[in-house]
Amino acid sequence: MTARIISGKEIAAQIREELKAEVADLSAKHAIRPGLVTILVGDNPASVSYVTGKQKTAHELGFHSIQDTQPADISEEDLLRLVEKYNNDPAIHGILVQLPLPKHINENRVLYAINPDKDVDGFHPVNVGRLMIGDARFYPCTPYGIREMLTRAGVQIEGAEVVVVGRSNLVGKPIAMMLVQKQKSANATVTVCHTRTKDIRAHTLRADILIVAAGAPDSVTADMVKEGAVVIDVGVNRVGFTSEGKAILKGDVDFDAVKEKASIITPVPGGVGPMTITMLMKNTVRAAKLAAGIPLE
Ligand code: GUN
Repeated sequence: MTARIISGKEIAAQIREELKAEVADLSAKHAIRPGLVTILVGDNPASVSYVTGKQKTAHELGFHSIQDTQPADISEEDLLRLVEKYNNDPAIHGILVQLPLPKHINENRVLYAINPDKDVDGFHPVNVGRLMIGDARFYPCTPYGIREMLTRAGVQIEGAEVVVVGRSNLVGKPIAMMLVQKQKSANATVTVCHTRTKDIRAHTLRADILIVAAGAPDSVTADMVKEGAVVIDVGVNRVGFTSEGKAILKGDVDFDAVKEKASIITPVPGGVGPMTITMLMKNTVRAAKLAAGIPLE
């Protein structure tokens, strides 16, 4: 079998069109413009590139959007005061503090200071807890994008054997928690594998849907994949540079070999990556509706 390759770029573009219509509707019916602030501390090149992408998309969608860049040596207290300022700003519905933060700042202290109703990253313990009990307000953007890709590609999640490789707070744990819920686009049987799993292959071979967020290239090879499985590759690994100095990206899955066995596979780049920013925008629209008391779907 040769897999159908699902393009995150195309699905993300489709969702952005839907969001544009929602933004227009919010403006016309409620005089609301979704507001997003992205806070960047320092000038880490990867973080600069991520927040630039987030701001560009927010502008394209007609959001009120602010890029707040702070020096790398900002004190934790000053950063907490900045978060509080945006917590109290009615024009801002979503607050994103780009991670990682410099070593002298306690990341959790900052994330926990964000008003959970403005936590469009879905990292605040209140939102993590709500996700766990099946009453989520915001899903973290990468898992949210994964679930959206699966449903829009017509993949049956209900009753599926889902195997997740990786147990990070950013991807592995939340996607497992989302797909196990007794809800639509969920109801799967979920296994989470990690670096201490005895025999990962024994688990991955059972997967109808295999989600790989392991953080290393070739973590999943063709011998680990069941014929006809759906394979979602969350990995982004820089494996070198082109002669023009551009980073060469590779996922966590041995794409060329696995695509001959899978029924559906996501590429890297152009798979899960483009979905993440778009889901942040969806969360910001949700936050704006929440603030105005407009029912969420
Ligand atoms: N750094 C890498 N990924 C993310 C993300 O999804 N959110 C934030 N805030 N920082 C990140």
